[in-house]
Amino acid sequence: MASDARGATNPMPRFPDGFLWGVSTSAHQIEGAADQRDPSVWDAFTAEPGRVKDNTTAAVACDHYHRYPEDVALLRDLGVGAYRFSISWPRVQSPGGLDFYDRLVDELTAAGVQPVPTLFHWDLPLSVETEGGWLRRETAERFAEYAALVAERLGDRISKWITLNEPAEHTLLGHALGTHAPGKQLMFDALPAAHHQLLAHGLAVRALRAAGVTDIGIANSHGPTWPASDEAADVEAAGFYDVLLNQLFADPLLLGQYPEGLGELMPGDVAADLKVIAEPLDWYGINYYAPTSVGAPQGADIEFGGYTFPAELPFSVREIEGGHPVTDFGWPVIPEALTELLTSFRDRYGDRLPPIVITENGCSYEGIDDQERIAFLDGHLRALHRALEAGVDVRGYFVWSLLDNFEWAEGYARRFGLVHVDYETLKRTPKASYGWLRDVLRAQP
Ligand code: BGC
Repeated sequence: MASDARGATNPMPRFPDGFLWGVSTSAHQIEGAADQRDPSVWDAFTAEPGRVKDNTTAAVACDHYHRYPEDVALLRDLGVGAYRFSISWPRVQSPGGLDFYDRLVDELTAAGVQPVPTLFHWDLPLSVETEGGWLRRETAERFAEYAALVAERLGDRISKWITLNEPAEHTLLGHALGTHAPGKQLMFDALPAAHHQLLAHGLAVRALRAAGVTDIGIANSHGPTWPASDEAADVEAAGFYDVLLNQLFADPLLLGQYPEGLGELMPGDVAADLKVIAEPLDWYGINYYAPTSVGAPQGADIEFGGYTFPAELPFSVREIEGGHPVTDFGWPVIPEALTELLTSFRDRYGDRLPPIVITENGCSYEGIDDQERIAFLDGHLRALHRALEAGVDVRGYFVWSLLDNFEWAEGYARRFGLVHVDYETLKRTPKASYGWLRDVLRAQP
């Protein structure tokens, strides 16, 4: 049961002074105005019938491109200190594309909301994909050039930057399983896409630092992996999944090495690349949604949480038992798993771990009186606070998402917003959770 932020019985604990409160979005999911930018891999993917469940596209989405002043006003009234959005590389490639971000950053700054851009949130320019995309090393170099261009234009007004969003999901869903753009089903041959994204990150960190940027992070997706049982086969399968989700993208960044056995599968001069990839970070972003129960393969494709996991994978994703509530997406709601994740990160990486920022956390539910979302956020904020009390250095928390938006292969069916969007009229209506979060923030120092 969620508590009232002002409730005397169970008030939200006090977070440290300077804790950064924010909300997140991404360009392809909200901007629309697809006719005013170059095409991306997601435009090509959604044009193929059956790729997106409701056969919709993000050509208009929330029309944030035209309605950004209204959206910035919503941010200001919510009282968040920061707004994490993404910059569309295909838009930056188009004439006048950077002007949009120029206007957005000015609007945010005038509203007293700190802009926190992500340079890549899965919408690779189609022209870059055609040349080989993330399977090609040169894409990492192109990305660093693009990062430098953006920093040169906006760096005077932006201090905090994020290079990539969730290279793990982009590798797994986009390149291994093919359920996201660019729709490749390479299974383990997708690993070069992981390496080149990590290299792109490292090269971009260098390019941003050369442009004078001093506050750089990445947004990686992580979650506890729980073996489906004590059986050796389940424990082994869960360990493997844990390496893919929690170590493959964190170890190179934080320890300068790949988990055992994976470096050999990566292309190029891996030892030299790891030096670039491990450029020190100012903070480490974690996108957290739910833990995963994993067991041995079951010899059949598995539908889970909106995704299909093919039978040939060396693990299978299972239901988590225990009668936990689930979101409309079917993801279990287990706030204490966030505390576990954060303390396990601190234990694994020790003093190699920079301060953490939760760069995404949220849930999909229908309805404007979204009491389930309030309960979800309330539970996760308390879980985060317990990690702080346990000594984990967490400096900020961003809710996914400000607005209902285009949820990738699910289309518009999943609503993650604090603000409801009517996709016919594009009218924004703050949900109950928006008012709840505003009250929580008002009560904080
Ligand atoms: C992504 C978002 C997405 C959210 C909910 C994250 O994996 O970064 O783009 O909308 O999860 O699925």
